[in-house]
Order: sequence, then C-alpha cells, then structure tokens
Amino acid sequence: MQATGSARGKVILFGEHAVVYGVPALVAGLERGAQAFVELSAESEILWDRELLPTDDPLYRALSETRRILGAPPVRLRLELAIPSGAGLGASAALGVATARALTALVGAGNEPSLGGAVSAWESVFHGSPSGVDAAAAELGGVLRFVKGETPTPLRLPEPLEICVCLAGPPASTKEMVEQVRRHKESDNARFQRTLASIAKLVDEGIEALGKSDSKRLGALLTQNHELLTEWELSTPELERARSLALEAGAFGAKLTGSGGGGALIALGPPGPLLSTWKTHGFDCFCSSIGGSPNHD
Ligand code: PMV
Repeated sequence: MQATGSARGKVILFGEHAVVYGVPALVAGLERGAQAFVELSAESEILWDRELLPTDDPLYRALSETRRILGAPPVRLRLELAIPSGAGLGASAALGVATARALTALVGAGNEPSLGGAVSAWESVFHGSPSGVDAAAAELGGVLRFVKGETPTPLRLPEPLEICVCLAGPPASTKEMVEQVRRHKESDNARFQRTLASIAKLVDEGIEALGKSDSKRLGALLTQNHELLTEWELSTPELERARSLALEAGAFGAKLTGSGGGGALIALGPPGPLLSTWKTHGFDCFCSSIGGSPNHD
C-alpha cells in the first residue's frame, strides 16, 4: 500500500518573531514545497532524494512522533524538497505536513486524526516550541493572518502577487534567533513592546494594501518591517547587500523573512530585473506567485 502527500513552503510577509509574543503575522504559501511518498514497511526507513538516511537522523524521531499521533504503522518514507532547507522558507513544516498527509491517506478515511497535532509533533523535533505559523502556511497555502493559538484567517487577494526570494547567506538556527530576540525583550521591555506595537500596525496596513493590490505601499511596509527587525539584530551584511541590490533593481521594498541571521530576503518589484541583478552578484533566487489557489493535497 502506498500514499503521497504534499505541502507548501512559505514566506512571512510581516510579523516574524513578533508572532511568538502574540502579534498577528501575515504569511504566504509558496508555489513550491515538499512531497512525501509512503509505503508500508516492516521497519521505518527514510529516503531523502532517493538516498537512505542513517537511523540517527532527527527525521526518524520526527517520523515516529508523527506516526504515534496518527496511529500509523512503520513506513518507508521518501521525501522530496523543492525549497532550500533552513533558510526560513518553512522547509521542515512543509516536510511535516506532506508526511502527515501521506500517513493520513495511508491509514485510511475512517480514521480522522488531527493534522495539526501530528505536524506540531514533527516540528517540535526541529524547533522546540514554534508559533505554528510555518505549519499553518504549509497546510493551508494562500495568504493567512496568523495569531499563535488561533485558527488562521485566509485573506482573499484581488489578484495573485509575485514575490521574489533571495537566499542571502548560510541559514541561522531559528531557536537561537528566537532566543536573541528574547534577550532584547529582557534588556528593554518598554522599547520591545513599542516595536511589537509598530509591527502589529504594519500587519494591519499590510492587509489593507494587499486588499488593494497596492504593491508600492506593500513594498514600503516590507521595508519598515525590515527596519524594525534590524533593531533585534536579525539582519546580516549579506541580507543587507541583497536588499540594496533589490532596491537598485527597482524593488518597491524588501525585508528579511523568517528567523533572520542569514537565510532569505523577500522583495516586491519587477521579477526580471530582481532575478538578474541577484544572479549577477552570485545569489540564488526565485520568484513565486502568492495568494493564488489555496493548498490542497
Ligand atoms: O522557521 P522560520 O525561520 O521561518 O522562523 C519561524 C518564524 C519565527 O517567528 C521566527 C519563529 C516562530 O516560531 O514563529
């Protein structure tokens, strides 16, 4: 018996890190993501791009936690990822959702397990205690207003939006970056609360701009969010370089996305010039439509 599942990668448009403290975030599913193929097996095996992973790989723990929640038997799991991992593009959540979907399909329709619980079991192996924003985007796609602990609200865009992603430097550990932000809170809580309030305002303004397909305004808001994130020392020289190049290439705005400390930058602007400028300077990059059809298995 075999089954498959798929899920999307994501970019956080507004509100990363602040989301950990209860501020809403806006997150968008990418066109690309992860795929999982499962078949019954006497013992669990995991193949990554068709290569068998050693049994001490943390993915085995993630699989066994997910199987436990879903009541699924041992499987041979093959994973394929079409986004870079550890770059703040939600790779681990996409793998978790794809795997949970494949396992759910395998155990059959009579059994109705919660995908949410299974995915947070998977995610907890890699992230400690994530806000859940990545998992929501991987599962639902589209553009979501996400508040930690609440059901995400899908936003209907008048038309899909093209967003460009640049990989700017080695990825950082989300856990360490979340810790770093916490230290900023501890050292000056009043200032920290003001920054949270400013980000919350940007999220509201972002929703308004998205509703009008106002790319210029959205770009300016992205830039403002980036500037607030730099207060928490989340940017790096490489992210700043990718950002300057994006603005030179005609972007309306650009910001780091995800945990920061390396990883990815998003920019809103003309895809052709953005991609060619980044590529000329040696950056890996791609553009994706967001806010189109929502995700489905
Ligand atoms: O996995 P990343 O790099 O996209 O980071 C997740 C977003 C954070 O807000 C930084 C952490 C979280 O749990 O929400």
